[in-house]
Amino acid sequence: MSTSAPEAVLDATASGRGAPRHVAVIMDGNGRWAAQRGLPRREGHRRGVEALRRTVRAAGELGIGILTIFSFSSENWSRPPSEISDLMGLLRRFIRNDLVDLHESNVKVRVIGERSTLDPSIAGLLREAEDLTRDNTGLVLVVAFNYGSRQEIARAAQRLAAEVAAGRLAPEAITAELIASRLDAPDLPDPDLIIRTSGEQRLSNFLLWQAAYSELVFVPLYWPEFDQAALEGAIAEYRRRERRFGGLAAAGAGT
Ligand code: FPP
Repeated sequence: MSTSAPEAVLDATASGRGAPRHVAVIMDGNGRWAAQRGLPRREGHRRGVEALRRTVRAAGELGIGILTIFSFSSENWSRPPSEISDLMGLLRRFIRNDLVDLHESNVKVRVIGERSTLDPSIAGLLREAEDLTRDNTGLVLVVAFNYGSRQEIARAAQRLAAEVAAGRLAPEAITAELIASRLDAPDLPDPDLIIRTSGEQRLSNFLLWQAAYSELVFVPLYWPEFDQAALEGAIAEYRRRERRFGGLAAAGAGT
């Protein structure tokens, strides 16, 4: 995901009045949804996968180009082993059960996050999902898995430092655009809209670099309750926002 070039800013400004091109979602509240009903947390995550299926379908129907989902964060490893195992199991089942449907729906799967430390069978499934759907031209579904934004930025810095050390790059040639070009998905535009469910109002190490000019919408529903109407509501809120990208409001420009 790149730093906005001037052309991209114009596009994104236009999209501020229309549909967002790139929507990113922090799917929060599975555990609280379950606790409220006296159910185990894993049931909340299982229902969270159903909400994810609904959201992917709705995103396609609403003409969203890119949907990024925060599936498992670098910090989620601090949860109890049984919950980590439930989440890994859900990812395995999601890819095994839904990949063919996603492929038939022309969805292109991309993955961001640190893969080198993942269980090889999980890394293999993520790779399989990307490989199978590589040539698809519909919705781009970006799965943030073992993802942390500070870690992503640190990896980009390591790559640039290695180029400097090898004598291929001068330190003063490092710009915001160059850092953006070494992030995990540099070809994708920054998110126009970031939605977080559950009422929490923070980014929790999600797309910190890419969110510089994203509109943030906080939805007071737990993730298992999220549906097309909720997505449409968040988009309606996004459309009411005025995106200025550090410039002036349209009425004030040129005066
Ligand atoms: C937040 O709820 C959600 C997660 C940590 C993971 C999101 C995972 C899913 C929606 C299901 C898995 C999908 C895939 C593809 C792996 P929480 O547990 O933090 O809820 P809480 O804050 O209420 O405890």
